[in-house]
Amino acid sequence: MKLFVYHTPEETPSHEVPECAIAVDVLRATSTIATVLAAGGEAVQVFSDLDKLMEVSEQWQPNKRLRAGERGGGKVPGFELGNSPLDCTPEIVEGKRLFISTTNGTRTLQRIQDAKTVLAAALINRASVVRYLVDKQPETVWIVGSGWEGSYSLEDTVCAGAIAHSLCQEMNAPMEKIAGNDEVVSAIALYTSWEDNLLGLMHHASHGQRLLRLNCLEDLKYCSQTDVLDVLPMQQEPGVLKRHAE
Ligand code: MLT
Repeated sequence: MKLFVYHTPEETPSHEVPECAIAVDVLRATSTIATVLAAGGEAVQVFSDLDKLMEVSEQWQPNKRLRAGERGGGKVPGFELGNSPLDCTPEIVEGKRLFISTTNGTRTLQRIQDAKTVLAAALINRASVVRYLVDKQPETVWIVGSGWEGSYSLEDTVCAGAIAHSLCQEMNAPMEKIAGNDEVVSAIALYTSWEDNLLGLMHHASHGQRLLRLNCLEDLKYCSQTDVLDVLPMQQEPGVLKRHAE
């Protein structure tokens, strides 16, 4: 297995696709997706465009759908939900399809949707992702951070490092054997420096600070937990993620 980390969807090579591509948006899209599927949501369907989301979701039974829209960290007016994973309780999401568009995370999922296997990872479901990789041993794996409007983010890179670090441990393999680019090594270094204080790192992250200004401290606390949800969101058809049954 060769693992590549890309900080943003824009950094990924445009003329190839890996066997397995993993989207990461710790704050907060992939944390929300994992939470919805763990809470019994039927599926999560992602859109980069809000109008397209409305058009497609209109065709879905109203009592079986939820619409979530986020721009700049805030809820889009007219949508039932924003992008807080804490709103996605079983009472709200069970049996429903979440139609969601966010500033960066849903764009990442669309960018990698042609890979043979597409997963969504966050810190909260890191162990489920690593278990799948160890079990299936895909030849090439991309971990793609969402960043913020084309630039690097600390929270997505630390999650990439958390996955890579755990993968080396579980496969009993040295980092040099697995790392396909230098970004893997620096992501692991970031993770091992902060693994005992991930919430502290979120406070340094520019999007963490944006969310704090929007009174979302509880979201930061929730999203900075590691390995608390046993759920693997996997793409079933382009843009549609469901819980993978092992
Ligand atoms: C995004 O997609 O940019 C994020 O998930 C933003 C957010 O925190 O809602």
